[in-house]
Amino acid sequence: MTLRQFVLGVSAIAGITLSTLPVITGDRDIAIQPHHLDHAALMLLGAIAGLAIYTPRGDRESAPWLWVAVLCPLLAMLLMSPSLYAVVDRSPWLHVFDHLAFLALAMLTAYAGQRYVRGVGVATALLLEFMAIVAAFGYGVAPPATNLRPPAVSAQQTAPSGDVAHGKTIFAQNCAACHGASGQGGMGPPLKNEAARKNLAETEAWIKKPAPPMPALYPNPLSAKDVADVAAFVQSLK
Ligand code: HEC
Repeated sequence: MTLRQFVLGVSAIAGITLSTLPVITGDRDIAIQPHHLDHAALMLLGAIAGLAIYTPRGDRESAPWLWVAVLCPLLAMLLMSPSLYAVVDRSPWLHVFDHLAFLALAMLTAYAGQRYVRGVGVATALLLEFMAIVAAFGYGVAPPATNLRPPAVSAQQTAPSGDVAHGKTIFAQNCAACHGASGQGGMGPPLKNEAARKNLAETEAWIKKPAPPMPALYPNPLSAKDVADVAAFVQSLK
């Protein structure tokens, strides 16, 4: 076995193993940075494999390969774009496919660079690797934190997120006189089962801008957080 074959074999096995991580680990959520670093490692392995399969063949440059060397990194960038996260999150196998694509694209980038002009493959491989590492540190392709949550979690966000215990105190001090200590009603209407009439956002909006005779207690004396908390408390009344 030549050194070239050995390098190719090791990088291919390591790359494919690393690609299947989402299935092996049950696709649990990992933070964005280690995840992108994982992609960077994949690209490095792919690029090494790409350089290993290249065998010098005369010194004639071949222009079409330049296109391949330029377009493959672009495709890799697209595959890493935040708008694809939700799609890839749907199944661990899609994720693995995504990883294998990185591996293949990096391999092609390095190989095509070499085929264009010998030595260029090393440069394109380094460039791709640089790009992948830089991406891991939040330049260009890292999405805002909210995009990272799988859809299941964002659906939960409509559930009360305020501090209910604090909301209870606010309620006792500011609302109970009209709505009753436990929301059973008084001068103001009962607020039991309010969740059936208004959702959290609507309750918050109402408290911020109520219709008379209910007084507006926001922004004074209640802060936005007080309102969010008391709204969460009202939503919890049964
Ligand atoms: C001065 C008495 C008064 C106080 C104090 C008061 N409310 Fe009200 N509230 C009312 C009245 C009266 C209504 C009914 C207004 C209407 O429907 O036009 C109302 C309506 C509401 C509603 C809408 C009920 C519905 O679904 O139609 C919510 C929610 C509510 N109040 C929450 C609160 C909260 C939370 C506080 C404390 C931060 C508070 N209220 C303080 C008198 C009061």
